[in-house]
Amino acid sequence: MILIFLGPPGSGKGTQAKRLSERIRVPHISLGDILREEVRLETELGRRAKEHMNAGRLVPDEMTIELTRKRIRQEDCRSGFIIDGFPRSAAQADAFDRMLEEDKLKLNRVIYFNISEEAVVDRLSGRRSCRNCGAVYHVKFNSPKVPGKCDLCGGELFQRPDDKEEVIRKRFEVYEKQTRPLIEHYAKKGKLVEMDAAKPIEEVFHKLLNVLAFATAP
Ligand code: AP5
Repeated sequence: MILIFLGPPGSGKGTQAKRLSERIRVPHISLGDILREEVRLETELGRRAKEHMNAGRLVPDEMTIELTRKRIRQEDCRSGFIIDGFPRSAAQADAFDRMLEEDKLKLNRVIYFNISEEAVVDRLSGRRSCRNCGAVYHVKFNSPKVPGKCDLCGGELFQRPDDKEEVIRKRFEVYEKQTRPLIEHYAKKGKLVEMDAAKPIEEVFHKLLNVLAFATAP
């Protein structure tokens, strides 16, 4: 099962990908998480990526294409994967098509999370992430039991540097220009499924399971 999760920042791709990955037992690959790990480790790539990420721009295609190529060729991806946040440009989509072709893999579906800019600003300004395990919360919509602490590991919750309103709006603008055209790319291939991402988390997940025909799986 190979799935792409496509949509604006804050549309809930990561939240749904984590859940689905646990349910269908295939890895969740988040390009944003991979890049943030490079930044944390202060690698050369991380140093170059950080500046773009904090400004709300895409990091250069050659970096994300290479990171993706390496990641999807790891052992745990043999029975499939959910890729969240890649591709985000025409060059990345072409490179991904070629990667799948080279490895004789078939893309099953592209799930498009459709949501407005205002809803995204509301969501991302309330997002909090765990410094320790990466779990994601929202101060209103998905709050932790104890404010500021992760339910899963007790780690400290923090706000991402790119979740300030001006950077959120820049990310949305970048999405509109560079990523939105991919909707047509995948619609033409007959792979696209659209979700109303403005619905509550449980409802979106339920719809996702229905779409993927996993609703009856244990
Ligand atoms: P990345 O980390 O991928 O950010 P993004 O795509 O902007 O997406 P987000 O993580 O912000 O949102 P999401 O859709 O996963 O929403 P989430 O589930 O967290 O990328 C960061 C940066 O890295 C990019 O800006 C770029 O610089 C770089 N980058 C990454 N990939 C790249 C690529 N391929 N090429 C170039 N550069 C790249 O949910 C958001 C909040 O809403 C949470 O608080 C959550 O609890 C809440 N929430 C989720 N669903 C719902 C719901 N249904 N109802 C109410 N609240 C909800």
